[in-house]
Amino acid sequence: MKPTYRAALLVALHLSALYPLALVIWDYHTGGLSANPIEDITRRTGHTAIVLLTVSLAATPARRLTGWSLFIRLRRPLGLYSFFYASIHLMIFIGLDFGFDWELIWLEWPKKRFIVAGLAAYVILLSLAITSPKLMVARLGAAWKKLHRMVYPASIFAAAHFVWLVKGDKTRPMVYAAVIAALLLVRLIPVTAKGRGS
Ligand code: HEM
Repeated sequence: MKPTYRAALLVALHLSALYPLALVIWDYHTGGLSANPIEDITRRTGHTAIVLLTVSLAATPARRLTGWSLFIRLRRPLGLYSFFYASIHLMIFIGLDFGFDWELIWLEWPKKRFIVAGLAAYVILLSLAITSPKLMVARLGAAWKKLHRMVYPASIFAAAHFVWLVKGDKTRPMVYAAVIAALLLVRLIPVTAKGRGS
């Protein structure tokens, strides 16, 4: 792929990833949030986090399909943006939902399995974000690749979090769970020489 196309794709990625945040800020200032703004922002940031995580999982299958190594380069920024939104999501939950009442949070979190799953996904995303700089790749060597495979359980926990927190019609979270499951299953298909290297 030509360097100009590559640069354009990266710019498009950054703009698309920042757009949901810009929209939240815009809606906050223009009264565009719902009647329950905290819930609205929590849901929007959680939704963006899972979308970006899912798209990052699609990078390897996309590379296998096309042979374009560029898809692998998109995986890191996508994963970091997912972590970024998950962090805002968690901060809103802790700060605005619970008013930084750590005692209450400590009492509440083990009672709700959707919070346990969300926390598990977040802890993994945090460890992947901390070890994502190139310096860490060199330092950790083979262990880095093993650690970064933890993105698979992270996506399963994120899907479980979504499925469990929705009461009533679970179609939307089940669609995400199915897409994530499909993207994980695709990895079991033997790799051809064209798609190797991811
Ligand atoms: C400790 C970590 C986490 C906590 C405490 C947490 C908490 C919450 C809460 C309170 C909601 C809103 C429930 C409602 O009122 O409808 C929610 C929704 C959601 N969260 Fe999380 N979350 C966590 C981590 C994550 C992570 C890591 C992801 C994804 C990578 C994620 C994705 C979502 C999604 C997709 C929704 C539903 C959004 C929608 O309705 O469209 N959460 N979370």
